Amino acid sequence: QNSADFVVVANRLPVDLERTADGGQRWTASPGGLVSALEPFLRSRKGAWVGWPGVPDVDVEEFDDDGLVLHPVSLTSAEVRDYYEGFSNATLWPLYHDVVERPVFDRAWWNSYVKVNQRFARASAEVAAQGATVWIQDYQLQLVPAMLRELRPDLRIGFFLHIPFPPVELFMQMPWRAPIVRGLTGADLVGFHRPGGAQNFLWLCRQLIGLESTRGAVGIRTRPGTMQVGDRTVRVGAFPISIDANGLDTLARTKGVAERAAQLRRDLGNPKTVLLGVDRLDYTKGIDLRLQALHELLHEGRLRPEDVTFVQLATPSRERVEHYQRMRGEIEQMVGRINGEFARVGHPVVHYLHQSVDRTELAAFFSAADVMVVTPLRDGMNLVCKEYVACRHDLGGSLVLSEFAGAAAELSSAFLVNPHDLDGVKDALVAAITLDPAEGRRRMRAMRRQVLTHDVDRWARSFLQALGAEPVD
Ligand code: G6P
Repeated sequence: QNSADFVVVANRLPVDLERTADGGQRWTASPGGLVSALEPFLRSRKGAWVGWPGVPDVDVEEFDDDGLVLHPVSLTSAEVRDYYEGFSNATLWPLYHDVVERPVFDRAWWNSYVKVNQRFARASAEVAAQGATVWIQDYQLQLVPAMLRELRPDLRIGFFLHIPFPPVELFMQMPWRAPIVRGLTGADLVGFHRPGGAQNFLWLCRQLIGLESTRGAVGIRTRPGTMQVGDRTVRVGAFPISIDANGLDTLARTKGVAERAAQLRRDLGNPKTVLLGVDRLDYTKGIDLRLQALHELLHEGRLRPEDVTFVQLATPSRERVEHYQRMRGEIEQMVGRINGEFARVGHPVVHYLHQSVDRTELAAFFSAADVMVVTPLRDGMNLVCKEYVACRHDLGGSLVLSEFAGAAAELSSAFLVNPHDLDGVKDALVAAITLDPAEGRRRMRAMRRQVLTHDVDRWARSFLQALGAEPVD
């Protein structure tokens, strides 16, 4: 203990403990973009990872996973309910995603959030060596930077938010806004995906001083890009995250993936066009909107059911949170309606899989898809669209992408859409399906240039350089 020079702290460990039917247990890969981005990077550093093993009420000792030290933090069932499902995913998640669903503000959830953040701070303090760098991740742990600084003033502390940071007007709804801002400003560097998020945060700090300083509570002075918090300087910046692009490119070039992609197309009945959606089943992802667009296009005869197949992979997520249950019901009803109207026996128009799929299988789906459809109402970055691009070494396929995904700023050669504008989405789908192949290759080449040169390693290094934890190249 107290031995790691580089520590990542995230709500989840990169692996989840799963209970098997026979009463045993096994470790599986954790879901979501945070883990898929950070894990390859941290493995190459041989650091330590502090996080929750994904199931309540288990006590697991620290263990070594192929050179990476995993330090589990345990949560009780009540904490999973209040801190994770409640405050993290029914308060912060909708509030930070433009209030797409109404956030619930519950005092018991907040108290649990404080208590669990304290536990993560203590665990990180135990693991970090003198003068170590500790990199705290995401909205579940926004209080940890200040709590950890209190326990260990010797540490260099970074914080990165993997989801959007909302406009001031929305954030101000948060009853516990001042403690959250104070928690975040405990870091030496607070990072966001987009400059807009960093700006929102800076403005908010400024505004909170205006509101609170009369009551003497917050005491932060801001400058563009930096803030003076007491005698400390806190830096604030934008660092767009990415993927292990070269790793995925290499995987997609393997014979196994190519054969599996061809097999998938045969299994789908060799349609003219395969459309693909890949998301955690989340109401921010706009899965319902893309299904609605497809439904209307089929209904109007602009697409013919014998020509198109839509595959939606929807990874199960946060299934006990009510917003998620409702969305799942709606999506499954829409899938049923589309197939009910347009399928023929043995040929559904929509193939819907509420399952998680491993990396190799995913690469095969990406390779097999003519049009990738990514339509979130709001998304911090969205890594799936970058993964699609990284897999298309053949320069085939086109991408329909929401302008409300952080990735849109980097992928301007996609068909960018406003997902709220259904006619716009429909036109973009038709344009992507009927795209001239030479123009398609030109677009894909431009997107690949961006994704392959801005990978996750570059993201992590640029954050750590700004934190002063890594020499500047
Ligand atoms: C997003 C969040 C991550 C989270 C992931 C999966 O990517 O930014 O913090 O881990 O979703 O969600 P879950 O609730 O299953 O951890």
